[in-house]
Amino acid sequence: MVKAGIVGATGFTGEKIAEILWSHPEAELSYISAMVEKEEPFSEIFPRFKKKINTVCKNLDINQAVNLCEVVFLALPHTVSFKIAPAFLRQGKKVIDLSADYRLKDTAVYEKFYNTPHADKENLAKAVYGLPEFYRDEIRKADLIANPGCYPTASVLCLAPLLKEDVGQNVIIDAKTGITGAGRRPSLTFNFSNLSGNMFGYRLFSHQHLPEINDILTRVSGKTQEVIFTPHVIPVERGIFLTVYADLKKKMTKLQILDIYKKHYADKPFVRIFEKSLPNLKDVVETNFCDIGFEVSGNKLIIVAAIDNLLKGAGGQAVQNMNIMLGLEEELGLK
Ligand SMILES: NC(=O)c1ccc[n+]([C@@H]2O[C@H](COP(=O)([O-])OP(=O)(O)OC[C@H]3O[C@@H](n4cnc5c(N)ncnc54)[C@H](OP(=O)(O)O)[C@@H]3O)[C@@H](O)[C@H]2O)c1
Repeated sequence: MVKAGIVGATGFTGEKIAEILWSHPEAELSYISAMVEKEEPFSEIFPRFKKKINTVCKNLDINQAVNLCEVVFLALPHTVSFKIAPAFLRQGKKVIDLSADYRLKDTAVYEKFYNTPHADKENLAKAVYGLPEFYRDEIRKADLIANPGCYPTASVLCLAPLLKEDVGQNVIIDAKTGITGAGRRPSLTFNFSNLSGNMFGYRLFSHQHLPEINDILTRVSGKTQEVIFTPHVIPVERGIFLTVYADLKKKMTKLQILDIYKKHYADKPFVRIFEKSLPNLKDVVETNFCDIGFEVSGNKLIIVAAIDNLLKGAGGQAVQNMNIMLGLEEELGLK
C-alpha cells in the first residue's frame, strides 16, 4: 500500500482527495493536515467520514509528515505550496501540488497574474504539468507534479487535438464554473443570496488561468496560441462547462473532426467523445471524465465540454497523476 498524505485537507479539493484515497485499493491515507484550532479525527470535522477515516487531522509538522508519507498532495492556496513543497522534495518524497505555484514556467507571467514573486524557481524548473492525456511519460518519471487548473484542464482537453492538427484558429472559450471552484472560505460574492438565480462574468482578459491555457496549448501544439477566455460563475455546486467557438482553416465535416478527436483520445480512459449528442454537466459530476462534443457548419466549429471541477479539474486528476507516478493502474480509485 502506498502511504499518502494531504496538506490542506479541510478545503474542497483536500476533502475530495481524502474521499478518493479512502476507497483506493492501493493507497493508505497515512497523514492528514490542515490549519486547525483543535487536532481531532477527520471524521469529527467531516461527519460523513465516520467509520471511514479515523486519522487525526493535524497542524502541519513536516518531519512527522515525511516519516508517514511517500507521496503528499498539497491542496493549498498559491504562494503557500511553494513554501512547503521543497521540504518534502528534499526528503525524496513525491509531491502533487494542486495550486498554481508550479504550473507556469515563466516566472514573470506568474508574478504578473498572481501578484507575488515566485519563491521556488529551482523546483519550478523540474515540475511536470500533470495533464496525463498529454504528459503521461513525463509524469511517470516526475517527483513534482503541477496539477492543472480546472478551467485549463477542460480547455486544453477540448482544444489540443484541433490545434495540434493545425486545423483550427480564432478560438473563443465561453466558460462557466460552479461555486466550489472558488474554494471553501465564505465571501460576499459567493454567499447564497448573491448566487441563487444569478450568473456573472468576471476577470475578462485577466483571469489567472488565461496564461496557463495559452501556455499549455502552445506547448502541446508547437505553435503560439492566444485564445479569448470568458469565465462566468453559475449557481451550481460543481462543474466546469465550456462552449468553445473556433474557425476551421478549411471546410471540414463533423466526421473529420470526430476522427481527429477519436485518434487523440483512443487510449485515454477519462476523455469521452460524444458522436451524436452533446455533453451535459450532470453526467460528469462525481466522475473523473471530461466529456467533449461538437457541431460543425462549413468552416465554423462549436465544441462543448464538461468536467467536475473537484475531480478531473483537481482531486481526481491529482490521484490519476499519483497512480501514474507510482506505476499503478491509471484508473485506480477513480472508476
Ligand atoms: N476548488 C476547485 O475547484 C479547484 C480546482 C483546481 C485547483 N484548485 C486549487 O487547489 C487549491 C485548493 O483549493 P480548494 O478549493 O480546496 O481551497 P480551499 O477550499 O480554500 O482549501 C484550502 C485549504 O488550504 C488551507 N490553508 C489555507 N491557507 C493556508 C496556509 N497559509 N497554510 C496552511 N494551510 C492553509 C485551508 O485551511 P483553512 O480552511 O483553515 O483556511 C484549507 O484546508 C488552490 O490552490 C486552488 O486554486 C481548486
